[in-house]
Amino acid sequence: DPATLMRQSLLAMSRSTTMRDTIEKAPVSRSVVQRFVAGESTANAVAVAGELAATNRLATIDYLGEDTLDPEMAAHTRDAYLELLTALAEAGATSDGRVEVSLKLSALGQALGRDGDRIALDNARRICQAAANVGTTVTLDMEDHTTTDATLETLRELRQDWPWVGAVLQSYLYRTEADCRDLAGEGSRVRLCKGTYREPESVAYQDKAEVDKAYVRCLKILMAGEGYPMVASHDPRLVEIAGVLADRHGRRPGSYEYQMLLGIRPDEQVRLAERGERVRVYIPYGEEWYGYLMRRMAERPSNLRFFLRALATR
Ligand code: FDA
Repeated sequence: DPATLMRQSLLAMSRSTTMRDTIEKAPVSRSVVQRFVAGESTANAVAVAGELAATNRLATIDYLGEDTLDPEMAAHTRDAYLELLTALAEAGATSDGRVEVSLKLSALGQALGRDGDRIALDNARRICQAAANVGTTVTLDMEDHTTTDATLETLRELRQDWPWVGAVLQSYLYRTEADCRDLAGEGSRVRLCKGTYREPESVAYQDKAEVDKAYVRCLKILMAGEGYPMVASHDPRLVEIAGVLADRHGRRPGSYEYQMLLGIRPDEQVRLAERGERVRVYIPYGEEWYGYLMRRMAERPSNLRFFLRALATR
């Protein structure tokens, strides 16, 4: 069907370097990128987190960049996080984990051949130590299924020193219910999302309804557990089900939280926060916004129309 075709071509575009060069050089108006991305600098990210705080929204900040095949780029990404954490602490934003950071291990060197996992782990350790120093937390993003085992192994290593390091699990993978069971223990922070990469039928549900049902099964495990579930979805049905499950397990707001992406359903973010729920917004920033933006477009054609309209009206 046309929607599937559109999604597949956008995901293909998200990996095309020619498209990337064309679009990055296109005079994209600031407003387009700014709806979904905080900007290119550390100061931009800190400022957006500050704006969200005015409506009681917490934040997790992601320095954009993925699939690094260059150790210097990986070191650059690590240093960007260290600079970010310092700037956040100076702005008084990190206490009680109000603003934390999200990392992609592929941006920290995971794909750098045989030593990749060790390089990414070393870089992540530096960032975790810096986060600990300023009183906040770190969550590991989850990338395509070929990296899931390595990312969970890195999580295990990091949690030996910093038990509050969190991870993302993706309900579209068949394995995820089992991973939820493994990670439902005390102190464990799990950000549950549907999953955004194109995955083969051998490892992932293809049908949206199946992904949603799997999300609910995973949420049941996490809400019944001893850990800290982070409900990362814009889906109104899943947000509602999360509330019912939290109630059923006697969980109060603050023993779990809702998470949404910058620029997506902002009114709902504010509404949940006004109801006394903990709401955290995922803020991407940095020069490498292309792949991130294309994945958001693939998820929702109305985002694409917004993007094309803004390109056309320049
Ligand atoms: P989905 O896209 O299926 O949309 C369901 C419903 O939500 C829609 O029918 C609509 O009602 C509403 N909705 C969605 N978008 C809307 C919009 N723009 N405006 C209005 N309503 C809208 N993925 C991954 O693979 N690895 C990761 O590490 C992460 N990390 C991550 C962190 C956080 C905090 C979030 C929120 C998401 C991620 N993701 C992710 C992305 C995630 O896997 C998923 O691709 C997107 O969140 C989209 O899925 P939804 O659950 O929002 O539902």
